[in-house]
Amino acid sequence: MSWIGALKTVLVIGAFAASGASLSAKSVEQSALNPASPQAFSIDVLWWLMFWVSLVALVGTLAVLAIGLWRARRAGNQQLSAVGSRNLVLVAGLAIPLVVLVSLVGGSLILGKELSAEPPANALTIEVTGWRWWWQVRYLDSGGEPMFTTANELHIPVGRPVKVSLRAADVIHSFWVPNLHGKTDLVPGHVNNSWFQASQAGVFRGQCAEYCGTQHALMAFLVIAEPEAEFERWLENQKRPAPAPQTAAARLGQQVFMDKCSHCHNIRGTQAEGQGTDGIVAPDLTHFGSRRTLAAATKPSSRGHIAGWVSDSQSIKPGNFMPPIPLTPEHLTAVTTYLESLK
Ligand code: CUA
Repeated sequence: MSWIGALKTVLVIGAFAASGASLSAKSVEQSALNPASPQAFSIDVLWWLMFWVSLVALVGTLAVLAIGLWRARRAGNQQLSAVGSRNLVLVAGLAIPLVVLVSLVGGSLILGKELSAEPPANALTIEVTGWRWWWQVRYLDSGGEPMFTTANELHIPVGRPVKVSLRAADVIHSFWVPNLHGKTDLVPGHVNNSWFQASQAGVFRGQCAEYCGTQHALMAFLVIAEPEAEFERWLENQKRPAPAPQTAAARLGQQVFMDKCSHCHNIRGTQAEGQGTDGIVAPDLTHFGSRRTLAAATKPSSRGHIAGWVSDSQSIKPGNFMPPIPLTPEHLTAVTTYLESLK
């Protein structure tokens, strides 16, 4: 994509954010104009190109209008000569817009084709399924077999291509991480693929970009791009079954969970393994305690928010498919402790 880089330099709109090549994953402002991958960089270039062309067109049109008004005023009651105005209409009203619009459409098409090319063979494949209103995430091994399932948080290695294979379980959703790529829809009964490659570490917020019902606005997720070694550590931990509860409170919490929550939520390595397969699918909680947010990036994963969510998720995200779970204060504290311990 060297022509894009050259174009951006010509446009003098700031160097590519290679300066942000930090090693630790810090939260990055969610913006398509703050690209952190070659794919988002190309989109950023196209955006700026369209911005400058539109600005020139706007200023040019206003200038012609101002000149016209000024001339009409100077002419007073005299008839204005029409000489030259026909050529002006033909050139400025027809020829220039035609060239500009065809160029912009052509540029978008070329870029679109480039961005929808097949991912490199060594790409890490992640299967993402959109549910109302959360994201099911499955990591596949090099043979295409699922390794584990998680939710609402993708970890990716910096500098390695990542292919996301997108499906929808119920209605149409759209996968959008503005800092990493454009939008790709998730369509029921159809698989769409998208791929990108993070060029810097960071925590990038993504969100559903297709209206999908009452909680569309709270259907977000995080993409955590980290150095390869850190990513591998995360991957190894995710492959393991859930850690056994270590304290009395966590053990009680596990019992409460099995009684009240395990009908919908899967936790690998417990009695709740294999749940969520009979049509009632809720986020896999095997390593819930290692995630930064809950309820599709609706709230930070703090103790208070976890307890609040378990006891009355409807007050936090009305209409979501988790019913209120009536628990005694002791059981609520215990189940919260257990969920937090699932690192
Ligand atoms: Cu899913 Cu909007």
